[in-house]
Amino acid sequence: MTILAKEKTNISVDVLEKISNTDLADLCYNTEQAIKAGGGFGWITVPPRDVLKKYWNSMMLVSTNTLIVGRLNGDIAGSMQLSFYPPNNEAQKTISSIKSHFVAPWARGYGLAKAMIDYAILKSKENNKINIQLDIRETQTAAIQLFESKGFIRWGENPRYAFVNGNPIKGYYYYRNI
Ligand SMILES: CC(C)(COP(=O)(O)OP(=O)(O)OC[C@H]1O[C@@H](n2cnc3c(N)ncnc32)[C@H](O)[C@@H]1OP(=O)(O)O)[C@@H](O)C(=O)NCCC(=O)NCCS
Repeated sequence: MTILAKEKTNISVDVLEKISNTDLADLCYNTEQAIKAGGGFGWITVPPRDVLKKYWNSMMLVSTNTLIVGRLNGDIAGSMQLSFYPPNNEAQKTISSIKSHFVAPWARGYGLAKAMIDYAILKSKENNKINIQLDIRETQTAAIQLFESKGFIRWGENPRYAFVNGNPIKGYYYYRNI
């Protein structure tokens, strides 16, 4: 039964310091699934595997980025990039940003996205951040509901935040003090 399956599901969150071949394959597969479901953090169509591999490998090289992954029974099922400003930016040194947060469609509803947000808040506090920011397309209704339920405050919107098939999509901007 679904309920039994849910009860047996173990979720965990960690920072990915190095990508193993298994983790890379999971990340690529889950990205493809998320793009097909309409929420592939910017991608509208599924790119070739090589492009996805390069994307995830390059994530590890950005020193101001922390790649947080959510796991379902040990397998990567979602991720989030927690980004800090570079050291030269003293004015924004206490701010972190959440980018490209997603959970694969097959792993949704288990609390994985919430767990990654809690972890991002923890990591931000550990790094002396006092404020977290993010932006979301208006069409990402689950994410909007999720971040608002986590106390993120909408402070602005951009009517031409993104374009899908030539049509403008509104975007919302959020912050939360921590
Ligand atoms: C948004 C997303 C990350 C949620 O992942 P998830 O693992 O299913 O979320 P969780 O189980 O941790 O949290 C569920 C919460 O999210 C919100 N939520 C999830 N699915 C929802 C839906 N279909 N409609 C409305 N709210 C929804 C609710 O607040 C819910 O809380 P509740 O269970 O107490 O009602 C996932 O749907 C996703 O990857 N979407 C596409 C990518 C995206 O929009 N990313 C955000 C860019 S910043």
